[in-house]
Amino acid sequence: MAQSTAKRETFSGRRAFIIAAIGSAVGLGNIWRFPYTTYENGGGAFIIPYLIALLTAGIPLLFLDYAIGHRHRGGAPLSYRRFSPHFETFGWWQVMVNVIIGIYYAVVLGWAASYTYFSFNTAWGDKPIDFFIGEFLKMGDITQGVSFEFVGMITGPLIAVWLVALGVLALGIQKGIAKSSGILMPILVVMFIILVVSALFLPGAAKGLDALFTPDWSKLSSPSVWIAAYGQIFFSLSICFGIMITYASYLKKDSDLTGSGLVVGFANSSFELLAGIGVFAALGFMATAAGQEVSEVAKGGIGLAFFAFPTIINEAPFGQVLGVLFFGSLTFAALTSFISVIEVIISAVQDKLRMRRVKATFVVGIPMMFVSVLLFGTTTGLPMLDVLDKFVNYFGIVAVAFVSLIAIVANEKLGILGDHLNETSSFKVGFFWRLCIVLTTGILAFMLFSEGAKVFSEGYEGYPSWFVNTFGWGMSVALLVVSFLLSRLKWKDEELAVKKGE
Ligand code: PHE
Repeated sequence: MAQSTAKRETFSGRRAFIIAAIGSAVGLGNIWRFPYTTYENGGGAFIIPYLIALLTAGIPLLFLDYAIGHRHRGGAPLSYRRFSPHFETFGWWQVMVNVIIGIYYAVVLGWAASYTYFSFNTAWGDKPIDFFIGEFLKMGDITQGVSFEFVGMITGPLIAVWLVALGVLALGIQKGIAKSSGILMPILVVMFIILVVSALFLPGAAKGLDALFTPDWSKLSSPSVWIAAYGQIFFSLSICFGIMITYASYLKKDSDLTGSGLVVGFANSSFELLAGIGVFAALGFMATAAGQEVSEVAKGGIGLAFFAFPTIINEAPFGQVLGVLFFGSLTFAALTSFISVIEVIISAVQDKLRMRRVKATFVVGIPMMFVSVLLFGTTTGLPMLDVLDKFVNYFGIVAVAFVSLIAIVANEKLGILGDHLNETSSFKVGFFWRLCIVLTTGILAFMLFSEGAKVFSEGYEGYPSWFVNTFGWGMSVALLVVSFLLSRLKWKDEELAVKKGE
């Protein structure tokens, strides 16, 4: 049955693919993770491990993901299966990681959308932290047990973001994903540039930039700084998540893969750098206004977006405008990444069950939406999000990357993939590319075991051990088991599953 390859959807061209891939890459990682990670890990000196990680791991693995998806023309499970049936589990593992990430990424996206709206009248009042935890999340104290009380202010926007994303995904690759990224990304870039330039004019901005960029060279001898650089690159470029495999499988046969990869890699890092400048200029202002040091106000993640930024918006001239720009950027950046996460799952289901797109979108999306609302539209959201994030986003990703790379390298597939890249691409890969992949495999092993040993012996962030055992370790093992079982499930179209990609 030739239908499989003949009927696969495609991006209209290279440009559409690049914008969608940048849409996936540019997300929360760039805006709220990169600036603080840089600050904490040596400031200006961090640029060295960061660039090394980008050039020797990020871009080479991006090429690898593209090669796997493009050569095998399938979502993650099908692409891995076309190496060998034994590899299919890796694909499902990546799919399952995306299931978990999707469930909670939606939540943060919903918060960002709500806060864009709140920015118009600074609805959070004078005490943004109390507002976020108390009034907005109505968060329970988990040491008192878990409670699943619904929080209306969260549930509404959460359902809305799910419906928007599913609507886009139901429209398909070109009409849905490429088109929405084509609209959202340029708006995002314009909004973000205005935000960063305005932040530079705030009093105290220079103080923030000093804090961000002043190099602390001594940090370079610490392994944790290098781990942070690799972690940032993996997360930020969305590599080894199955996302780039999936997107590349929708590229036409004669596409310049490596050329596109270079554009995506450098565009993502440029956005990150811009975010670092904007965020720290704003933090410099916050510190100056409060008569504090930047070190006292510097934060990343939830603390940055939902505690620090509302404070900045309260105090800055034209604060509301900055607020709409900041939270609007966060929303758009997260939305295009969120869409790419869900597409990995849809694509896998479509391949395995030969299901049509619209049906697959809802078969995947509706149950996920319910779980998302049940778990995070309730008062236990925040701690769960934190634990899931650590275990799935860190351990899950590093582990699946490590074992799948071992399998690829040990089975001598690197050469085939390199040849595939060179057949169509402008920038050729060779020995150095293969060397980078092998070295990165070693680094992944180090990341996995050093951090694993730490969390295993010390626990995580002081959460009760039953909580970490259930939602952390327990869930990680469950994911692996489920992935294995899914790989054993019969393919609706056996012929599709055994066909070699071309
Ligand atoms: N690359 C996205 C970011 O920087 C994060 C992401 C990773 C999203 C993997 C989805 C999956 O925020």
